[in-house]
This record gives sequence, structure tokens and C-alpha cells, in this order.
Amino acid sequence: MININEKEDNELIINKEDFNLNNNLNNEELEYDSDLDNNLDNDLYNIETDKTESKSIIKKQNERNYTKKESDKLYKNTLKEYKTNTTQRDRILRKLETCNLYDDLREDILLGKIEIPKGVKLVHVEDVNLLKLANEEVEGVVKGLHDRISNSEKLTNFRFYINQPYFDRNGGGDPFPLYKWNDKRVKNICSVVENALKLYNKEFSESLNVIVRIYRPGDILNFHTDRDDFSESVFGCILKNLDESRGLILTSKKKKPFMLPEKDGMCWEITGESRWDWEHGYCTQFKSKMEIVRVCITFRFFNEKKAIPKKNYEDFM
Ligand SMILES: [Fe+2]
Repeated sequence: MININEKEDNELIINKEDFNLNNNLNNEELEYDSDLDNNLDNDLYNIETDKTESKSIIKKQNERNYTKKESDKLYKNTLKEYKTNTTQRDRILRKLETCNLYDDLREDILLGKIEIPKGVKLVHVEDVNLLKLANEEVEGVVKGLHDRISNSEKLTNFRFYINQPYFDRNGGGDPFPLYKWNDKRVKNICSVVENALKLYNKEFSESLNVIVRIYRPGDILNFHTDRDDFSESVFGCILKNLDESRGLILTSKKKKPFMLPEKDGMCWEITGESRWDWEHGYCTQFKSKMEIVRVCITFRFFNEKKAIPKKNYEDFM
């Protein structure tokens, strides 16, 4: 187990090579394509830009999703367009905020020296074949998701649950499926979770909530601290990250931000200061044309049975 906090000076030099910046995404994939807007049903893609701006946008796309000017324009347009639908408006604005904050923090991080948050522990699931099988299971589940998820629910990320569900703060009926532990359709994903738990000297129990989040270009995870319904340790495992220049960012008001050095199979545990005093969030490169950019499993234990939301399982197979 690598405990990065055990490093002598608690610092890590992050340079662009560590994240393979530019290596995974070729320019063709990133070129601005106005037709893309028509193919995607996500409001934040709908950025209008004139020809003189587009050249500079292409150049900057691997750096930020939006320039300040573009972001201001989107903000104003959203206010205007969603005058009557304030719920949708607020979701879109929060997404824009997440996107800008993520890119600001990421620019800070890529500049060089950063401090590792206390309580972050990284380990690695080494079984490449198991990761491959788990990713295939994810793709299988995603195929069935497109039709059952509304546009407004698509504003953050695709996801599904295993063993115990979780509802976000927006509440209401949750359309994302819940699978039983070791359901045939997700059994390799369960094995990855079990392997990771073992590396942290933990094991499966009925209170385990597993969320598999699938990030397509345009998807985000709003910055947040996990609720105290869950116990001290929150875990994650990267099943796949095709853009290692973007990983989960941890941020705190008092400290410099930190980005997880994500590789396939990398797992993290956050406890203590990083669990309670820091927020974490993620944002994809919106203009990438890859289908799925990143798949991340979150798993954590509910403290009490009464905190577990009620939800039906997908029919068992
Ligand atoms: Fe979280």
C-alpha cells in the first residue's frame, strides 16, 4: 500500500508528463465542431461562438472548457432562457460553476508544487483482466441507461448503484438502477470493490453503498463533501480514465488543491481532514469525442440502517 502522506515533506511535484497531458487526446478529437452541439442534449454544450473566436478556442480546449468570456455569455443566456424553470436553471448554473472552478484549480495544480491532503491513501488493483471485465460490465449497463434518464438528470453524470442506493440532494424518484451484490451483470465490478476493500483491510457488509459513475464528455461531479450518513472512510477506484490530465480534484479553502494521479485500477481512501474539511469534484473535457472518458466506483458504508434510502433492485439475473 502506498500511503502518500508518509512522504517526508508531504509534497509532490506534479508536472505535465505525470498526467500525460496532450498524449491521450489527439488534436482531431478536440477540434471544435459546431455540429456536436446538435448531437448532444446537454445545455452546457450549447455554446455559441463566432469564427474569429473558434481558432483560439481550439487551442485552449485541452486547457479549459470555457474562457471567461464564454462562461459569462453562457451564464447570461441561461438566466434569460430559464426564467420560469428555476430548478433547471440552478442545475445548469451549478454545472457551469463546477466546470470553471475545476479548470481554475487544475491550472493551479499543473503549475507545480502542491501539498497532499492529510488522510489520502492510494493503492492499486493490479488485475488488468479483472478491470477489463468490469469495464465491459459498465458498458453493458450504460447501454440500457440512455432511454430511462431524462435530460435534466443527464446534467451531471450517468451512474448506477450496487447493494445499497444513494439519492443526491435533488431527491425525488431516482431513475438510476440498483443491482444486487454479485448480480451476474455486475459481478466483476463487485470483485474489484472486494479487492480494493481488502487492500484497505476492510470487507463487504450489508451497509455498503457502491456507486459506479460514468463520465461522458460534458459530465461532471459537483464539488462536495460526502455526507455524515457515511462512515469515516470513503473509497474510490478508477476503472478507466482515458484523459489522465483530468482526475478527481480535492480542494480546501486553506490549502492548495490536489488532483489524484489517476491510472486505471488506482484506488483512493479519504479519511480525517481530507474526508471532512476538503471538497472533491471532477469535470470532463467537454469537447472530447470519446464515448466514455472516465469510470469511477465510489464505495462507502452507511452508519445506520435508517439512513439507507428505499429502492427496488433491478430484477435479479
Ligand atoms: Fe464524494
